[in-house]
Amino acid sequence: MELKNTPALRIEIAEVFKPLLNDTYRIKFYYGGRGGGKSYAFADSLLLKARQKKLFIACLREIQDSIKDSVYKLLCDRISAWGLNDYKIFENKIENKLTGSRFIFRGLRDQDINNIKSLEGVDIAWIEEAQTITKKSWDILSPTIRKDGSEIWISMNRENENDPLWVALANNPDERTLVRKVNYYDNPFCPDELKIQAQTCKNSNPDDYAHIWLGEPLRQGNYKLIAGYMVREAFEPKISDSSSPLIIGLDIARFGDDKTSFCFRSGRWCRRLISYQKLDNVEVANLAHNFINELHPKRIFMDIGGQGAGVYDILKDRGFGEIIRGVYFGEKARQDNRYFNRRAEMWDAVREWLSSKPPVQLPYDEELFEDLCAINKRYDRKGRLQLEDKDELKKRLGRSPDKADALALTFADPVYDNREARIYGNGNLTYNDLFSDNQRSNEW
Ligand SMILES: Nc1ncnc2c1ncn2[C@@H]1O[C@H](COP(=O)(O)OP(=O)(O)OP(=O)(O)O)[C@@H](O)[C@H]1O
Ligand SMILES: [Mg+2]
Repeated sequence: MELKNTPALRIEIAEVFKPLLNDTYRIKFYYGGRGGGKSYAFADSLLLKARQKKLFIACLREIQDSIKDSVYKLLCDRISAWGLNDYKIFENKIENKLTGSRFIFRGLRDQDINNIKSLEGVDIAWIEEAQTITKKSWDILSPTIRKDGSEIWISMNRENENDPLWVALANNPDERTLVRKVNYYDNPFCPDELKIQAQTCKNSNPDDYAHIWLGEPLRQGNYKLIAGYMVREAFEPKISDSSSPLIIGLDIARFGDDKTSFCFRSGRWCRRLISYQKLDNVEVANLAHNFINELHPKRIFMDIGGQGAGVYDILKDRGFGEIIRGVYFGEKARQDNRYFNRRAEMWDAVREWLSSKPPVQLPYDEELFEDLCAINKRYDRKGRLQLEDKDELKKRLGRSPDKADALALTFADPVYDNREARIYGNGNLTYNDLFSDNQRSNEW
């Protein structure tokens, strides 16, 4: 069909993505790290194809709570960037006025059988963020895209070795499957800002670089934020005293079986952790009040997501507004471009603290060990560190990581500290060299 009143086809597609336009495969599987140009190239290629003949295109992902989660906006942006006035944009679909092509947007998880049936006439299905697609969704979708000549286009940033679509399609591709890896350096349009971010990450954390920017799956054993040996090393007593200001982290129980935990940290020395069960707000506030009077902490950072808000109000009312700070785990991180939320940022500060020199010290506590080593990390689509969901962790751990959350809270904001901890010897002495067993307990 001839295109009237439309600009000449001058959309540029990078070489590596040309098979999207020119080659015939049942599956076109592109994967790689951030900034590879996958999303843009898929969008541009589909827009080009849909101007050439009538196509029914489904843009799919695992979960789509609203059209905002989909590639709808990207397609709209590309239509306007290229000035493609043959496209008409509706609230939740896009159509080509000349060819009659149609783009729809769906989440797979919420499809009932009737909705799935409506996908049977699809010519091209684009699955974006395919690392999140479950085996179940794939098993339903694959036979649904059944029109002769239909294609399934897949774009993914790999999450781990067992990503279901990776295992099903790309691990061992058949002759009807094209698999291509693309990274930022393959993308001729990659903005300098992204290249700088990639370089910075390469210098500071090669493992993260391999995952975020080179598209490698997280290595087995590398899903953990904090390695066990780091915590074990921190359990070895090595600090005799610290004149750094005392910071208290207070994690307040959300449910009946959770514990309310206080963590006391002076710079490199986390002196003590104390947990309580079944306290009401006034009792927690009274404890905090006593600690303030006796120990003169510089700050108390407290989780005010749940019950904590009530405790915060009581303490504020008692005149401690200067000392207490409320923190929502779910709120925006201070470094929003690196962390998914405040919780991820605080936990990563614990990791950095544990691996910093001179060495740090934690009170010996097996529950704290379990808490700290249990948490899994991942990266969101912007490459920001994200922690495993609290509920998931609770299922695996059998409880909330209250003690580690209290420790993490002591890192909520930097507190001015110009003091050094005094280290015994060279900091490499074992506790046997220094303490008897009972001194190894949580005493200050
Ligand atoms: N055809 C293009 N024209 C102009 N800019 C482009 C084009 N393709 C890619 N880019 C630029 O490269 C950046 C990365 O591309 P894109 O978002 O498609 O990568 P990706 O492989 O989907 O990776 P991720 O979404 O994980 O970052 C875009 O934000 C855009 O700035
Ligand atoms: Mg993308």
